[in-house]
This record gives sequence, C-alpha cells and structure tokens, in this order.
Amino acid sequence: MPTMEVDGKKITWEGRKMILQACLDQGVTLPHYCYHQGLSIVASCRICLVEVETPNPKDPSQLMKIPKLVPACQTPAADGMKVHSKSPKAISNQKAVMEFLLINHPLDCPVCDQAGECYLQDYSYQYGRAESRFEEDKAKKPKKDIGPHVLLYSDRCIMCTRCVRFTREISGTGELAVFGRGFREEIDVFQGRALDNPLSGNVVDICPVGALLDKDFLFTQRVWFLQQTPSISPFTSGGENIFIEHTQGRVYRIKPRFNKDINQWWISDDVRYGWKFIHQNRLRTPLSRRPGAAVEPTWDQAIGRLEQIFKKAVTETGPGSIALVFSPFDATEEMFLAAKWIRGLDPQAWLTLNPPPIVGQDQVFKNPSTGAVNYVLRAEKAPNRRGAEKVLAYFGGHTCTLTELGTKIKAGQMAAALVIADPFAQHDAWLGELMSGLENLAVLSTRPDGLVERAAVSLPVCTWAEKDGVFENHAGRIQPFQKAIAPLEGTRSAGEVFWDLLSETGVYSAATVRATMAQAGLSEYAEITMPRRGKQVELMQFAEL
Ligand code: SF4
Ligand code: FES
Repeated sequence: MPTMEVDGKKITWEGRKMILQACLDQGVTLPHYCYHQGLSIVASCRICLVEVETPNPKDPSQLMKIPKLVPACQTPAADGMKVHSKSPKAISNQKAVMEFLLINHPLDCPVCDQAGECYLQDYSYQYGRAESRFEEDKAKKPKKDIGPHVLLYSDRCIMCTRCVRFTREISGTGELAVFGRGFREEIDVFQGRALDNPLSGNVVDICPVGALLDKDFLFTQRVWFLQQTPSISPFTSGGENIFIEHTQGRVYRIKPRFNKDINQWWISDDVRYGWKFIHQNRLRTPLSRRPGAAVEPTWDQAIGRLEQIFKKAVTETGPGSIALVFSPFDATEEMFLAAKWIRGLDPQAWLTLNPPPIVGQDQVFKNPSTGAVNYVLRAEKAPNRRGAEKVLAYFGGHTCTLTELGTKIKAGQMAAALVIADPFAQHDAWLGELMSGLENLAVLSTRPDGLVERAAVSLPVCTWAEKDGVFENHAGRIQPFQKAIAPLEGTRSAGEVFWDLLSETGVYSAATVRATMAQAGLSEYAEITMPRRGKQVELMQFAEL
C-alpha cells in the first residue's frame, strides 16, 4: 500500500487519491474551503496549499522539493512523498488567504446562524492573523431570498463555488452561478429563477460559511447546544441516513449522514423538512368510547380494554374474525410483536398492510457530465414496506390486502380490527371508509385523526424520533435508528404496547425483540447494532464524512 508522510504522520491509501482526500480518509485535517469529496475539484480557494517533496524519478531514494506550493486538493498523492502543511511557507500562505477572505467578510459571528460550524470562523482561529490590516470600507453586498428554503447573505460568501457546482453536478438544475468580477463577484440565481429543486437544502450544508442559510432553522437555536442522533429517514423508502439534531426534548433540524451506498452526502427537502409532525397535533392520552366507560382511561385500563375487545371477539365470533393492519411507517420489531400478539389470541387472525403512499415516480439525479447517479428521490413515501412484508411472510396464514379486509368487514365477517395508523394523513379517508362498518376498532396513533374518532379504544404512540428500531429500505437493506428525544408525555412506543399485551417480563427493548426474531429464524436481525451516537455538532462533519 502506498505511503506518504504528512507533517511527520504516515498516511496510506488505496487507488488514486489526492493528498487532501488521502489525509481526510485517515482523520488528518488540512484546511480546505472549495474542496468537497462529492463535487468536482476546482482548487480555487488556495487555503490548502502545501509544500511537497516527491521522489526523484531518476533516483527514487532522493526527494526533490517542488519549488512552488501545490494545492493538496488537486495534487495526487504518491508513494514516498513528504507533505508539509505547517512549514513557514505553507503557514504564510494560510495567513495570506485568511486575511484576503476576511477583507470584505462582515464580523457578524454573534448574529450568524453558522457560528459554531463555520470554517471561516474556525480557520481564522487556527490559521489566521489576530488583526486586520485592511483600513478601507468593506464591500457591501445584499441579502437575498433565493428560494423556498434558502437565504443568501452575499457579503459572507467566500466564493468557493461549492453551491454552484452542486446545482450543476448533483441536482443538475443549474440555478446558481457566479456573476460580476473582482470584489463585485457574487453568487446569485439567474434572473427570474429560484433555487427550488428537490435537493435545494443541501447547499446550506456544503456552504462552508454563513452565506447560504436555512430559512427553517434561521435563528431558532445555536448549533453548539444541539445533540446529534444517528437515524434513518421515515419519509421515503430510500432509507436515507440522517442525523436528528435536537436539544431539551425538541428537534430543530435534520441533516444528512454520509452513506456511500444510499444517499452519499445528500438528502431531499422532503426528508430535511418533514419532521414537524413530531411536535404538532399529537394524541397525548388513551381514549375509550364505550358508553359509560372513562373517556380518558389510564394506560392500564386502555390496554385492558383493548385485550378484552379482541378476546371477546374471538370467543363470540370464532376464529378468523379479528385483524391487524400494519403501518409501513412502523419499526419491524414492533410489527413482529404485534403479529405475535394477535396470532397468540387467534392463529387465524388476519394480517394486512396499509399500503405505502406513492407520489409520482422515482426521480433520479445524475451528474450531467459523467452520468453517475447522485441521488434517487423515491416515489414510495414510507420507510418500511419491506419490513412489514417480511413479518407478513414470516407469520403467513391468513394475510390479505386492505381492500380485501374492507370487503370482509362489509360482509360482516369481522368482529374487531387493530390499526397501527400512519403518522401522516394520506390514507385517512380510505381507511375510515373501509373500517366504517366495524363496531370494535382499536387504533394506535400519533395524532387525533378520523380513525381515532371512531375507534372503541385508541392508544397514543410515539414517532420514530422517540424510539429505537429498524427500517428496511426499498432494496432490502435493514438499518437501525435510535431514539433521539424522550417520548412525548403520555405516549408509548407501539413496541411497548405489544410487549405489555404479550405479558413479557422486563423493560421493552428493540434489541431484545431482534434477538427473539433472530432465534425464530429471521437471522438477518441477529447482528444489527446501533450506529455511534454523536455528541455535539462538529466542525466540517459534512465535508469529511
Ligand atoms: S454561497 Fe457558500 S457555498 Fe456558495 S460560493 Fe459562497 S461560500 Fe461557497
Ligand atoms: S481546497 Fe484546495 S484550493 Fe480550495
């Protein structure tokens, strides 16, 4: 394996890599602004210039110094090379670049949303000068609203062109460009256009300074208070890897988490901005609608009532008269427990899946020059259809479609059904109509929807951000997600509900259920471990990942 020495540290790599990338892969950081692993290399910011000694082609035992500084982001690493980023010449360049960038940059860190995750702020501590020698007036540039999600603060821009390359190479929409020359140079959208592609929020992540800001997050929280929890997107079947960023029990934003095989560095705006339902319109207490019974029973009373309804239905109407409707938004472990419970009551109980919503067709974003696929925005807007299908196949026997279940209800063949409702309202009207003839409807829901209104008993459950579990994406990849915040007061996870109904001992844990599933023959659940939990938002997390 080729080896080079960077500031005295040995760096190894495989294949063809630039010096900077080889260093980043090994956790060694060199300053950089314009370089991003997911974009083409332009080597325009010049902060990464290093001194290089390279083996003499005529006598490889001898090193020869390249007379000029070279950009680490654009110079291929070579076996036997020595790289110096802390030599007097390299440091003098870093200071000069920082001084140049700060000439026109406003000193507004206290009110800038990027403070705490800004390359300019951090590099000015690490590589900059203590004082500015610039005595003229700074160039003033405007703030602009350039799209539904993004604001541009032009005077904070350092012209790295990451955002421009993103719209050309990743989203392929090309809304952004560089206009003007010299100190009047500015990033802007073309006249009459807006930055409104389905991946637009990613430009905020890759902007190294506070020039592109997220309207949704603007002035809501300082980033150093945020905790990161690794998770999986619950909004599409893509299985995008994300971080939920939160503090004090409240989610503030969602950021992409690098996964080379799934979403690389990117997420769609659907995934980025879809999380608001966690804190809005939540069902907070169990409800019972039996005449004479408590309208808001305790959890124990509500679980007792649910059990009583289903046991009575089996006793009075016979086998095959109760049903369970899975949600493709639920964790696989929870569906496994739910199916185990209902099949324990009646081995002929019907199992079915509320089908995932489909919106249009898959949207494929390709690099216009290379044709490489950057991102696929899935039309299927639910995270775990595959998990639900796997549980259905495992339990087998009486399974049917939701429409078939509706027909059975209309024909008076069903006595009771339990629906695990979706967190969104896509199928509400249809489900309500299908269940309308059913006297004993039980619902587990995150929100007080139409189904809850007609249910004999409803239990308030938590969202994916408030529990652990696994989702299986469209391609069959099983990925775990972690609880980011405590469940809303009064709610429990669906897993805990079925754990209680099954009278299992000990505290419910998704890991214990996975172990049971593995023992039961679903071996793919044996080795799943949760990703490492983040501590705090870290500088350059998106560039280095
Ligand atoms: S707006 Fe941000 S990403 Fe775009 S060129 Fe300026 S500094 Fe770079
Ligand atoms: S990161 Fe190398 S020149 Fe910008």
